[in-house]
Amino acid sequence: MSFLELAKARYSCRKYSAKAVEPEKIETVLAAAAAAPTGCNNQPQRILLVDDPQVLAKIRECTPFQFGAPVTFVLCYDKNACWCNDKGEGIGPIDTTIVMTHIILQAAELGLGTCIVGYYDKDALIKALNIPSNLDPVLLLPMGYPADGTRPSQMHDKRVPASGFVFRNHF
Ligand SMILES: Cc1cc2nc3c(=O)[nH]c(=O)nc-3n(C[C@H](O)[C@H](O)[C@H](O)COP(=O)(O)O)c2cc1C
Repeated sequence: MSFLELAKARYSCRKYSAKAVEPEKIETVLAAAAAAPTGCNNQPQRILLVDDPQVLAKIRECTPFQFGAPVTFVLCYDKNACWCNDKGEGIGPIDTTIVMTHIILQAAELGLGTCIVGYYDKDALIKALNIPSNLDPVLLLPMGYPADGTRPSQMHDKRVPASGFVFRNHF
């Protein structure tokens, strides 16, 4: 499968089978996360890999979008490690989002589903998972094997072609 075919085939999986994800697949996904570019190569991403059912239950109390996945990544960055511009504005959320993109595409290549989740109660999550104060959670990412019959939502195919968002030389 070409990269473009993979990018188009990936979709938000919102129903998972109970099948556990093999440790070697998790390792491959994490290697893809480690390969992501970050500002000044500071690599501020900090990822909590959750596969303990009791901890997954805590995440479910913070979002309606955990979908019963056997694994959920809590994607954070270290506020003290991310590159900041001369106004002191950090780019940790951008770094973390690029890392997330590596994860979802690597997972798709391995036959695993993911769903980016930005809708969660951040304060509740910080409390529930005891997230250290130097870390800022950005996204949740459930991952696992899609349940039988799972299909992309209608939104998946509704893409504006590049001609609708690319401008040449001036806006
Ligand atoms: C930053 C971001 C946050 C998102 N948050 C959620 C979410 O909280 N819950 C959810 O079900 N999907 C969420 N999504 C998934 C989008 O709805 C989905 O990617 C989009 O509709 C396109 O569908 P597709 O991923 O199947 O191609 C999020 C996606 C992005 C990029």
